[in-house]
Amino acid sequence: MINTNRLKTLVCRFGSGLSLLLCMAFMQAAAQQVVTIPITTDNHALVLQTDQESRLWMVYFGDKMTDSNGYAHVLSQYSLKDDNAGIYNNAYTPAGTWNLSEPAIQVVHADGNTSLELKYAGHQTKREGDDVMTTVIKLQDPQYKFTVELFYKAWQNENVIEQWTEISNGESGPVVLQKYASANLYLTRKDFYLTSFQGEYLKEMQPYEEKLLRGIKSVDTKLGTRAMLLGTPNFILSFGGPARENSGSVMLAQLAWSGNYKLDFEIDSYQNLRLIAGINPYASAYTLRSGQRFKTPSLIYTVSSHGTGEASRQLQSWARDYRVLDGKGSRLTLLNNWEATYFDFDETKIQNLYKDAKSLGVDMFLLDDGWFGNKYPRNSDNAGLGDWQENVKKLPHGIGYLVKEATAAGLKFGIWIEPEMVNPKSELYEKHLDWVIREPNRPEKYYRNQLVLDLANPEVQDFVFGIVDGLFAKNSALAFIKWDCNAVIYNAHSIYLEKNKLPQTHLYVEYVKGLYKVLERIRAKYPAVPMMLCSGGGGRADYELLKYFTEFWPSDDTEPIERIFLQWNYSYFFPAITTDCHVTDWGHQPIKFRVDVASMGKLGFDIVASKLSPSDLEFCRSAIKNYDSFKDLVWHGVQYRLLSPYENPVAAISYVSADKSRAILFTYLHNYRVMQTATPRPIQLNGLDPKKKYRVKETNLYPGTKSSVDAGPVYTGEFLMEVGINPQVNGRRTSVVLEISEEK
Ligand code: DGJ
Repeated sequence: MINTNRLKTLVCRFGSGLSLLLCMAFMQAAAQQVVTIPITTDNHALVLQTDQESRLWMVYFGDKMTDSNGYAHVLSQYSLKDDNAGIYNNAYTPAGTWNLSEPAIQVVHADGNTSLELKYAGHQTKREGDDVMTTVIKLQDPQYKFTVELFYKAWQNENVIEQWTEISNGESGPVVLQKYASANLYLTRKDFYLTSFQGEYLKEMQPYEEKLLRGIKSVDTKLGTRAMLLGTPNFILSFGGPARENSGSVMLAQLAWSGNYKLDFEIDSYQNLRLIAGINPYASAYTLRSGQRFKTPSLIYTVSSHGTGEASRQLQSWARDYRVLDGKGSRLTLLNNWEATYFDFDETKIQNLYKDAKSLGVDMFLLDDGWFGNKYPRNSDNAGLGDWQENVKKLPHGIGYLVKEATAAGLKFGIWIEPEMVNPKSELYEKHLDWVIREPNRPEKYYRNQLVLDLANPEVQDFVFGIVDGLFAKNSALAFIKWDCNAVIYNAHSIYLEKNKLPQTHLYVEYVKGLYKVLERIRAKYPAVPMMLCSGGGGRADYELLKYFTEFWPSDDTEPIERIFLQWNYSYFFPAITTDCHVTDWGHQPIKFRVDVASMGKLGFDIVASKLSPSDLEFCRSAIKNYDSFKDLVWHGVQYRLLSPYENPVAAISYVSADKSRAILFTYLHNYRVMQTATPRPIQLNGLDPKKKYRVKETNLYPGTKSSVDAGPVYTGEFLMEVGINPQVNGRRTSVVLEISEEK
């Protein structure tokens, strides 16, 4: 049984006040000494503690306490009396010895034995710059040379923890990892509410909140290439009641892995929550050779006691500062031809679209799917994928010519690829059947008429790298890549693994690792070129891939009312600078509404501008200029979700500059009923300086219309946050954008 009080307690303090670069060298715990290890950020603490038998437990997860000595006594306040209760809060629950609950790790040792015991063997905390402290805790099986290290990287200001595990096989032969979670947390709050985000094509990121009841609730995917089609690796946990925007304790988390994942939420018999997150063990037993080390993906989470608003601001700021490629940088506005032409284009059509791009005033033209394939031209989604040579009928002068023409027109040029996949109707498939993931003795099963290439195979990695490298070699002025991924893995079988006598159960893991290897190479050679992550809509958006990508495509659903909801949901986890939002012809909303909604992210267009009415075109041009003037707020500002579209007919979101001198407020009447005249009450702003004075002015006005918002008065920040401002949205003004600027 756990008893923390009987023995001398050693608390290791690693407060941010310590200026030592190396906070502490590896501490070897004296036998039977209880060690308490607080992993803290500015506001939050996660505390681990050993017992007299050197097992490691998670004892606290909550607000950081001013007196860290208290952490040593937390566990003794809980009556966990059963024999099995000592297992529930294990910091990384092993299988096969005295644990009977869901394990975090399960192995078969080199000698065939299936038992695992993990004992504390020391820990180390390192300060890495002003903001980051990393703690590594070493666990060792007393009977086997088998080691697990738990990593906790804690960003102090952002209250973000990135947690992962590294597993080492020091045995004389291979060890099979049957389960190898990234993180295993134990939370002792009362009543847990889980919001998971499920969806499908055109309906990505749909939130569903439920109270967790006893037993295990799992969220997972087995799609192989893309996590998000059915369920995303993002979740919100709220403690004590459903999640609220500005109050209550919440945790926002994501497993940063681009393949199969599994999140287990188990309410145990003490009504505490055991959380185990990691690569999905489904069909993924991994053989670790002697001397080999396995690094799991990271579980990234932030915690706030002031609701989802603060939590997501923390995560967004962390993402921009530390994770997303060029997160603090700039982005290109663009015109994409996908919905303007689909596969049906030629040089003349593209050049006409250049004129559209110029008349709109965007930075770049993005050529989408359909530009390649000759033996099997890519004129629809059923042929040509894999054959990355320009189609000579459509583009007789090649991509180089298009890039040159774009440059001459004062536009940058970007291009679509889907390099991980292949149509069976392609030369690539004919030449390299051995590169395709398929069961050789079973009928093929297609998703969007295509199959997935085997990225476990280094030759395939070279091929995929070569597609990007080749495009840049021929077109050094290429400014942007849209990287698509539509298919899922059916008939998961790798000829490469088979030939190399490696287990097929490595495929799901090696596929994702192979993808990361390719992206590493691309980024080593082309560190700065912006790339959009797309996956047949929004199937891929995670913080591992966003190390390599500047932005992602949230959904092919660009209907603007749906987009208000979608962008709202993505914003819990991702900053607006990463979220590509294109104005299209979807839905029935006026162009102003569509442009305003898209201006809440990274703005782009996918329309035929020459078909717009003169006043619609005039509006777009001025809205793009306006966007240029406030995009720094959207991209780098602090986001406040003010009115939820789920709870109100009016939705409102604002972005405030770090110095609180400027803000931009987007408001929409998205649920219009005929008798609804105007916003009945003002919208209270957030994040302004109560003492500063501000002027409020409507922007993005449609030509010929006047604002009903009086730009005359000067308001204090206090007024705007206590009373608020009424944007006067109504049936004729369904979308209103207000600029709020400090008046000096
Ligand atoms: C799916 C993407 O979501 C679309 O934007 C488009 O690029 C098509 N693929 C092209 O096939």
